[in-house]
Amino acid sequence: MEAATVSFYLFVVCTIFQGTEGTKEHIRLMRHLLTEYDPMVRPVEEPNSVVTVSIRVTLHQIRDLDEKNQHLTTNVWLRFFWIDEFLRWNTTEFANISRLHILSSKIWRPDIVLYNSVDEERTAAELLSDTNVELSPNGLVSWTTPAMFKSACKIQIDSYPFDVQNCSLKFGSWTYNGFEVNVTSFKPNIFTDNLMNNGEWEILSAPCVRNEIYYSCCDEPYPDVTCTVIMRRRPLFYIYNLVVPCVLLIFIGSLVFVLPPESGEKVSLAMTVLLAMTVFMLVVMENIPPTSEVVPLLEQFIGATIVLLTLSAVIAIFTVNCHYRGQGQQRPPKWLRTGVLTYLAKAVGMRKHIILETDSQRLSQHDSSSHCSGSILHALSCNGREQGTPGGQGDLSPREMDELLPKLPSQNQLSSLEAHSNSIQATDVLLRIHTKLDLLAKMVSSSRDCKGVEEKAKTEWRLVSMVLDRMFLIIFVALVFFTFVAMFSQIPS
Ligand SMILES: *[C@@H]1O[C@H](CO)[C@@H](O)[C@H](O)[C@H]1NC(C)=O
Ligand SMILES: *[C@@H]1O[C@H](CO)[C@@H](O)[C@H](O)[C@H]1NC(C)=O
Ligand SMILES: *[C@@H]1O[C@H](CO)[C@@H](O)[C@H](O)[C@H]1NC(C)=O
Ligand SMILES: *[C@@H]1O[C@H](CO)[C@@H](O)[C@H](O)[C@H]1NC(C)=O
Repeated sequence: MEAATVSFYLFVVCTIFQGTEGTKEHIRLMRHLLTEYDPMVRPVEEPNSVVTVSIRVTLHQIRDLDEKNQHLTTNVWLRFFWIDEFLRWNTTEFANISRLHILSSKIWRPDIVLYNSVDEERTAAELLSDTNVELSPNGLVSWTTPAMFKSACKIQIDSYPFDVQNCSLKFGSWTYNGFEVNVTSFKPNIFTDNLMNNGEWEILSAPCVRNEIYYSCCDEPYPDVTCTVIMRRRPLFYIYNLVVPCVLLIFIGSLVFVLPPESGEKVSLAMTVLLAMTVFMLVVMENIPPTSEVVPLLEQFIGATIVLLTLSAVIAIFTVNCHYRGQGQQRPPKWLRTGVLTYLAKAVGMRKHIILETDSQRLSQHDSSSHCSGSILHALSCNGREQGTPGGQGDLSPREMDELLPKLPSQNQLSSLEAHSNSIQATDVLLRIHTKLDLLAKMVSSSRDCKGVEEKAKTEWRLVSMVLDRMFLIIFVALVFFTFVAMFSQIPS
């Protein structure tokens, strides 16, 4: 017990003694090293010697990747190693001191800068702080400094939000060329063992490569170390908040093509989905840089959906218009009938349905013809419209009525009849009455035909709109499918 206490005191005394001795020696060593030292001078004894600076980059935190302004903010620990030939000492002469700490501003430092810095507040030279350096007896200097970098980074938005970003940090000496200060990478990659977890980005790899660049100004090479942080966006946030609602909306959007135009809701549904899609487009647009080089996949997808929904709304308006325009006498033009009802219907697999519909329509036409009792006026208006005469809009003009109603002999004529009792004139009047009655009979029969034509035109328009809707549904589903395949194939594994 007592022996332990004594040895403890001895140890403390020894340490203090050694410490004071060491401190004295340190001061002596410091004086020895720095009296003749000029921090402006490159620390080589031969003017042709190269100072090789080795850079070790440790990524501590990815603070933010600003997609809109295209810069990456990182917290990095930088460590530089080089040999300072003026800072060597003999350990036996200086009490075995093997490590010395000096403020880095007291000695020569390589003027390493971040080439692609976009920091508005600090200049490139101010990015590194004046921390201590560690000296070794053989002249090896190790300078560790933490730094906050804001570096330019070209954002690739093609596959947003399943994108991989490729941001580089380029370090190099600003004024010394490659024959004076040779910048090399300590390891071929960034150290990420102290990395703080980022909720948005996952580091895939971070290689560091040394480049030599010849600038137009000078003949000497300018080496640099470029470390690239390749990181993948964690897409869960975007899947949950952007992609899933978008997919659900697209599903509802596809139902626009299924809704029959008679319901009257087709156009408003298309419009509502269109509006929601526009909102999503705005949200996406807010998060990406306004570039005209590429359109991200998500935007392409939303854009294609918007185009299809717009088309659907237009078609819906068109078909609804066909349904409710007057009595719907006009049949679809011949090219539309053959093109859509024959070929397109075959292509989308609705030909059977169409044949069934037209057959049943023909049957019902026959049935209804027995109790078709269209009025003369209706028949007339119908006829007029069918033949495209201008008077076919509804009621008849008084002139036509006059013409059509059998002209009864007027008072004058009657009196003249009585007066002359001319049988020839009577026959003439009778003949005229007969002609008019004939015309009436024709009208009644054509009224039946007219009903049939109307039904037929209605059905044909309905079928045309159905076939077009089916075609658009198929295009829509195919487009959605291919966009999904394209989008998910671009997701890096
Ligand atoms: C260090 O100093 C001792 C004593 O002065 C000397 O013997 C030794 O050679 C020196 N070592 C070097 C590497 O100069
Ligand atoms: C320095 O180290 C050597 C060998 O380790 C030792 O013999 C010598 O006593 C030490 N000198 C001092 C001042 O501690
Ligand atoms: C990162 O960028 C470099 C240089 O532009 C390129 O060579 C490399 O293929 C890119 N890597 C990825 C994963 O995009
Ligand atoms: C600089 O370092 C690189 C790699 O370590 C080496 O290949 C190159 O020769 C060196 N340049 C000079 C001028 O020493």
